[in-house]
Amino acid sequence: MADTILHADGLYHVYESKAEDGNVVALRGLHIDMKEGEAIAVVGPSGSGKSTLMKCLGGLMKPSAGSVSLAGKNMTRLTGQELVELRQKTVSFIFQEGNLLPDLNARDNVAQPLRHQGVPSRKALALADEMLTKLGMSHRLKALPAMLSGGEQQRVAIARALITQPRLILADEPTGALDPVTSREVLALFKDLHENDGVSFLLVTHSKEVAAFANRSLELRDGRFVAEHGESVDVENLTKDRELIIDETGTVTLPPDLLVRLGGAGRYTVGNINSGYISLQGESVESMGKMVLASTCPACKHDYKDSDEQLCPSCGSSRPMVEA
Ligand SMILES: Nc1ncnc2c1ncn2[C@@H]1O[C@H](COP(=O)(O)OP(=O)(O)O)[C@@H](O)[C@H]1O
Ligand SMILES: [Mg+2]
Repeated sequence: MADTILHADGLYHVYESKAEDGNVVALRGLHIDMKEGEAIAVVGPSGSGKSTLMKCLGGLMKPSAGSVSLAGKNMTRLTGQELVELRQKTVSFIFQEGNLLPDLNARDNVAQPLRHQGVPSRKALALADEMLTKLGMSHRLKALPAMLSGGEQQRVAIARALITQPRLILADEPTGALDPVTSREVLALFKDLHENDGVSFLLVTHSKEVAAFANRSLELRDGRFVAEHGESVDVENLTKDRELIIDETGTVTLPPDLLVRLGGAGRYTVGNINSGYISLQGESVESMGKMVLASTCPACKHDYKDSDEQLCPSCGSSRPMVEA
């Protein structure tokens, strides 16, 4: 069996806030185990904790609780310098935007991570030029980020991420700012690295194509993984081919649409139990108050009318359950 490249246990993150609505619990006890060479997509509505998860997994942010191991090393125990070195030789990040240093031109942006690793400047620049050429940017080597379009900036960011030949790439909506053509090119490049060089990918995405590239997809809702999907997931219809996840503590979080169909939050009687099978009888569900999907979006007030959509079509927020 392949080695584990990334492992997280009991990951919690709380954003402290003095504001009236108080602290935000962005991650609620996540577990993840990623094998070397795997490609995993993280899907879920906006605000579900995807970016927070990526930052905690990559060691950019310390989780409030829980542990993260990268290539077998527990990051929560490393000193600052050790963490920097481990990250430098193992993982690269690609965010939706803001990946580049504004004062450096394209080739210097790409060469910089190599220079940090001690590669002589001239060699670093030659490799940077080669990588940028591979990404169709040979004509813009000396341009500052501000002079590049969103798509061009992202291609430079991807070159910068790939230049160190990382074993793992963490990407937060990497094609979100790209046009469809560039997006497809980037995806082809990822595929090549995944299939031919065994690079592992953990990608946050809303895109069907990107999700389809992954070996499996994890569905995140309100800081919990609620389900897993196999290859070729349809991000617009997550109800198909969904496998529910029960974590180590025995907690199963039902996706909101399933909860509605079951009859809502409440008490259930345990019927039959066999290995791999359990039946629940919702006798007193009514007494806890019947739950239905909210009729308007709490964030932007969009009116859902008769639809049973779970994501707000205007702002992308998760549709909550409310008492009927
Ligand atoms: N810096 C922050 N301070 C306070 N709350 C935050 C901060 N960043 C994110 N959040 C909150 O944490 C939750 C998860 O956010 P995020 O990880 O950005 O989700 P996603 O990437 O899935 O949209 C949201 O409720 C968001 O409002
Ligand atoms: Mg995000």
